[in-house]
Amino acid sequence: VLPPRSSARVDLQRYRELHRRSVEEPREFWGNIAKEFYWKTACPGPFLQYNFDVTKGKIFTEWMKGATTNICYNVLDRNVHEKKLGDKVAFYWEGNEPGETTKITYRELLVQVCQFSNVLRKQGIQKGDRVAIYMPMILELVVAMLACARLGALHSIVFAGFSAESLCERILDSSCCLLITTDAFYRGEKLVNLKELADESLEKCREKGFPVRCCIVVKHLGRAELGMNDSPSQSPPVKRPCPDVQICWNEGVDLWWHELMQQAGDECEPEWCDAEDPLFILYTSGSTGKPKGVVHTIGGYMLYVATTFKYVFDFHPEDVFWCTADIGWITGHSYVTYGPLANGATSVLFEGIPTYPDEGRLWSIVDKYKVTKFYTAPTAIRMLMKFGDDPVTKHSRASLQVLGTVGEPINPEAWLWYHRVVGSQRCPIVDTFWQTETGGHMLTPLPGATPMKPGSASFPFFGVAPAILNESGEELEGEAEGYLVFKQPWPGIMRTVYGNHTRFETTYFKKFPGYYVTGDGCRRDQDGYYWITGRIDDMLNVSGHLLSTAEVESALVEHEAVAEAAVVGHPHPVKGECLYCFVTLCDGHTFSPTLTEELKKQIREKIGPIATPDYIQNAPGLPKTRSGKIMRRVLRKIAQNDHDLGDTSTVADPSVINHLFSHRCLTTQ
Ligand code: WTA
Repeated sequence: VLPPRSSARVDLQRYRELHRRSVEEPREFWGNIAKEFYWKTACPGPFLQYNFDVTKGKIFTEWMKGATTNICYNVLDRNVHEKKLGDKVAFYWEGNEPGETTKITYRELLVQVCQFSNVLRKQGIQKGDRVAIYMPMILELVVAMLACARLGALHSIVFAGFSAESLCERILDSSCCLLITTDAFYRGEKLVNLKELADESLEKCREKGFPVRCCIVVKHLGRAELGMNDSPSQSPPVKRPCPDVQICWNEGVDLWWHELMQQAGDECEPEWCDAEDPLFILYTSGSTGKPKGVVHTIGGYMLYVATTFKYVFDFHPEDVFWCTADIGWITGHSYVTYGPLANGATSVLFEGIPTYPDEGRLWSIVDKYKVTKFYTAPTAIRMLMKFGDDPVTKHSRASLQVLGTVGEPINPEAWLWYHRVVGSQRCPIVDTFWQTETGGHMLTPLPGATPMKPGSASFPFFGVAPAILNESGEELEGEAEGYLVFKQPWPGIMRTVYGNHTRFETTYFKKFPGYYVTGDGCRRDQDGYYWITGRIDDMLNVSGHLLSTAEVESALVEHEAVAEAAVVGHPHPVKGECLYCFVTLCDGHTFSPTLTEELKKQIREKIGPIATPDYIQNAPGLPKTRSGKIMRRVLRKIAQNDHDLGDTSTVADPSVINHLFSHRCLTTQ
């Protein structure tokens, strides 16, 4: 257990007190927070109404229904006009190429958003319409999403790493009438011709009888040709050699962003919306098949992301915040755009990747902008660990105060490296557990308040009432392991699956009536700390013992030769299931029988003989989603030599799959 810092916004005792109140009196707790926001009209009826029990009728949650507001007004106009933050930098934009930078103030951002709202209005976009956005990490992406919000239109952002097919599927599912995209961009050294993918996608939509009527294209790679007035900020774009990207132009459909913006007025009255009107749709993969369109609503989401941002990152006005997530994921929606802007924060928006032009890129950016709070994913940390300490320690990082992680359980090995090397043992780490569905953080330490245990997401955030259930749905007290569920609504909970409320009820509320079911396994220790053990479908039962893939992986990664590990269950005649492990080695290590023996010994020592793997396969690469999640479903099939992989359209690099198939372990080691 690592002790907290002394200078925190709340201490542990205050946290406990506030948490108790937030759960016992949610209406009063969130009602007080709501007073800090602008409401066009106050909430006329009950502040909160809900039903979490499928046996009692339809599942619903309503916070502040009947109150009217606009989230764009709250995060921009209010900051500029009321809080006098007009000249404060909202974003430092750092391009893929070092030196390619620009910045935008709150006032400039407001102007751009108003202009683009007028553009959208002219294209016929109205409250309730769906707008698809398929863009890299550039300022226009933030402008586009906030303009939708200003008009009460729903943005459906599709990560620019997704294929044309995936984009088409998402456009069709929520019948988006307009697409906003970009000519092309670089990710490291790789050129992505995004417009080509967008065209392909719109062609597929047409073939399926759904013609998207308008496609607005940002000239990003070709920006240098445009001259300085079209850059999102006043500073001139850095010139760089622009390769000849061939762009097809569909007359009657395609429109240049910069041409439309030139003609647009810079004032735009926001559309006043109900707190319970939808704000956006964001697709997340279902455990099987079709992606789910998670729907978040305006009022509750606004309160929740603003409050989690403030407390979890211990926000102070002079902070420079940097969340490395792409806006195409929920982490980017909540902690690149809405959460920081709601607090009037200054953030970094980074287009590139951690290893380009070298492995020290993140830390050079930290130093350049004097980043104080830094938020990333365990997979990025493990990837960087492979290169050793030097790329980190050659940068100062003296500005850093709080480090965060999100997305998957962080193994203590990676946690300790993050803490020791990146944070120089000075910075608290917030291991934030949450989901696309939850809108914001659910389980997390508060920096400086919560004594940290490496690998534990620790305690619930305000308003969050977790419970651990056994298979029969009974709540377990004290030390326990089982299904992680939430007993009551928090403001940021998703309201439905777009166009399929039944799927929403089935996925999250059917298994245990009365609870929101996360799908994650969880353990509570004797001190009340929560430890996420991985998705329930990643739970293994070896000889009647429940094991989590995460704990075995963590043991493997603690070995100096192992950079990354993925463990899946494999059928076994005596044990029921046994462990099949895939390990990616660090540079300079070779795979050998001696190494596999050492790894088994390591697991036996860390967890116990019960967790000894039967198979360990050398995996130079692992199948991952584009957001970096290991696809254990695919690995299970590989282990069993089952080539019927189902949908693999979300695998970032499909070639690793063939390699793993052809190097399968045939016998136990
Ligand atoms: C996992 C990302 C352990 C978990 C915000 C969850 C985590 C899923 C953590 C949601 C964490 C996320 N520790 N596991 N700190 N954070 N997860 O929807 O399995 O992309 O259910 O949202 O990621 O992933 P999603």
